[in-house]
Amino acid sequence: MKKYLLLFAALLSLPFSAAQTAAAQDAKGTAMEKKSGVLIAYYSYSGNTKAVAEAIREKVGGDLFEIKAEGSYPDEYRPMTEQAKKEIQEGFRPKLTSSVADISKYDVIFIGSPNWWGTITPQVSSFLETYDLSGKTVVPFITHGGGGVQRTFSDMAAQCRGCKFDQNGWAGYGAETSGIGEWLV
Ligand SMILES: Cc1cc2nc3c(=O)[nH]c(=O)nc-3n(C[C@H](O)[C@H](O)[C@H](O)COP(=O)(O)O)c2cc1C
Repeated sequence: MKKYLLLFAALLSLPFSAAQTAAAQDAKGTAMEKKSGVLIAYYSYSGNTKAVAEAIREKVGGDLFEIKAEGSYPDEYRPMTEQAKKEIQEGFRPKLTSSVADISKYDVIFIGSPNWWGTITPQVSSFLETYDLSGKTVVPFITHGGGGVQRTFSDMAAQCRGCKFDQNGWAGYGAETSGIGEWLV
């Protein structure tokens, strides 16, 4: 009993600003400090989002996970983008071919997607629908070709049912990674 009273007294004596700072610390800061329980899941068609995922992994630690799914796209750019557009319009969800061994290990999950037609890719949507992310903190990161965030963050937030969605995600042009360190703290 005495032990608990002493602990309580010690907590009370914490300077208010320290307690406040601790409370205000966001998910990314927590992830940086813990370096465990963190998953960095991403889909990348041409390598940009992969480069950002690796840069986050370098700073935060945790486990990298590439979202892979069935299906393929034409080699030519225009037909490829048209197929992707059709898939998005039809709400296509490709079957995942890679899997996270134990999602319960993670409480902070960075999720990366390229911006495709203003939103996240069907592969990322499949990931969000396959795993129960309720109660987990989800930090989005997207890469784009000039359009910026558009509906990527809001669509991801809507699709990760019950997750704690961090609106302060990363949105970078192409494989840009400068500024990631500042974004994370
Ligand atoms: C099918 C498709 C649709 C795209 N749509 C957009 C878009 O709406 N807005 C945008 O800014 N960039 C768009 N882009 C560009 C990609 O978002 C950008 O090149 C991204 O960094 C690619 O990431 P990745 O290399 O990880 O696949 C599109 C690219 C593809 C292939």
